[in-house]
Amino acid sequence: MPEEFFELLSDSQTPPTYKFFNGSAWVSGASGPPAGEAGKTTPVISPIDQSVVGNLTTATTAEIDEIVIKLKSAQPAWEAKPLNQRVKIMHLVADWVHHYEEYLTTLLVREIGKSVGESKSEIVRTAELTDYFADEVQSIHGETINSDDFPGYDKGITAMVERVAHGVVLCIAPFNYPVNLAASKIVPALLMGNTVLFKPPTQGGISGVHLARIFEKAGVPPDVFACVTGGGNEIGDYLVSHKNIDAVAFTGSSDTGVAIAGKAPMKPLLFECGGNNPAIVFPDADLNLTAREIVKGGFSYAGQRCTAIKYVLGTKGVLDTLIPVVLAQMKELIHVGDPRSPETKLVGPVISPDVAQKIQGWIDESVGLGAKVEVGGKHDKAYIEPTILINVTPTMPVIVNEVFGPVVSFIEVPGMGDAATIINQTRFGLQACVFTKDEGTGIVYAKSLNVGTVQINGSPQRGPDHFPFLGVKHSGIGVQGVRYSLEAMSRLKPVVLNKPQ
Ligand code: G3H
Repeated sequence: MPEEFFELLSDSQTPPTYKFFNGSAWVSGASGPPAGEAGKTTPVISPIDQSVVGNLTTATTAEIDEIVIKLKSAQPAWEAKPLNQRVKIMHLVADWVHHYEEYLTTLLVREIGKSVGESKSEIVRTAELTDYFADEVQSIHGETINSDDFPGYDKGITAMVERVAHGVVLCIAPFNYPVNLAASKIVPALLMGNTVLFKPPTQGGISGVHLARIFEKAGVPPDVFACVTGGGNEIGDYLVSHKNIDAVAFTGSSDTGVAIAGKAPMKPLLFECGGNNPAIVFPDADLNLTAREIVKGGFSYAGQRCTAIKYVLGTKGVLDTLIPVVLAQMKELIHVGDPRSPETKLVGPVISPDVAQKIQGWIDESVGLGAKVEVGGKHDKAYIEPTILINVTPTMPVIVNEVFGPVVSFIEVPGMGDAATIINQTRFGLQACVFTKDEGTGIVYAKSLNVGTVQINGSPQRGPDHFPFLGVKHSGIGVQGVRYSLEAMSRLKPVVLNKPQ
């Protein structure tokens, strides 16, 4: 029964107040000097109807200190454990996630307003990713390197290069994938022998503590994994700048990423930050395919994916033909509504009415500067109408900001070279997608784009999850993807044997 498995996470009131996991027990806080004030809680508000889903307890600085010290001292023994034991625990994590698929899906839908299908897919993907990590880690081995390869050296010096853990890794997950983008950090960190402090987002934090319970029940030993809750503005700075945190893995906005990087100097960082991903449409593109990918890529989960398409570039002739096809596909593929309803397709609410209001401001300002609303353009509470803007220019607010909502802008360019210039001048560099029937043209054009990944004839996406996933400029630091994440959650340690012959 899910109720029994997750019972001790909260006080079972209506709405419930959730505890956090200090590494060995679920605690309600309030036991020390406050980060804000002792026993403080933060409500988690559903974007669907602004009801309170539950409250999260804010950990105090004293509680965080105590947890981090324990994580630090438990780390060497965890790393020394046979890998096969860590692997077994992670497979059990995957099994429990599968087991509670329905329960976690329902929670996710209400907490973050993701549709049932998209929420379910996040949960299933998390279990599959965890299993894949646990399999892949077994093929990560050290190597030996001999000295005589390098000019001037004889044989006799051998580097034995091993992978070792960083120590205590802080894993900070975002609201849009609070389960999957938590596991994508926690699992590789634990497999590589790190201990982990998990900080879920506020919205998504209830799903986050449920995931934490699964790690505990799967058999992660005491003080190897802990989960603390509290607003980013209350405990975030304290966590990222903590002297006993050895590495930080984070997904969130570029502004927060830049702030964290400044507060965690000389620490290994693995960041997935904002994206403002463009689609470039060549004159020979298959317009039906292009339009479908723009609609799916721009509007799924109401555009709240760092990989969402945010703007489309093409010449006047191409856009004039493409836009009516996009509008027709929107009618077919999108059904705005309550994410709990099976009728809803692609667009439910954004994460809060405040965020909707902020996006509305960017739309209105851009219109004031000459953009034209082709469809949509208004919001009601957290629901933003799926919006297409035309006559957009690269300096408008809808382009210079990461609009985390269902808005796609069209920019007319004289030629494809101008499109590349516009893309390369933005501060973002996650992904771009190029539509052309000539793959060779796409491959050559991809070389001119300064982004992490270029997709040809498909919308941007992180998956398949074993592909490398990275952003350049303000879109990220380091590389994720199964093997790459395992490598990022560890470092090389050469031990050099000197045996002159
Ligand atoms: O929001 C950031 C995610 O990494 C995007 O993942 O492309 O699978 O939606 P996705």
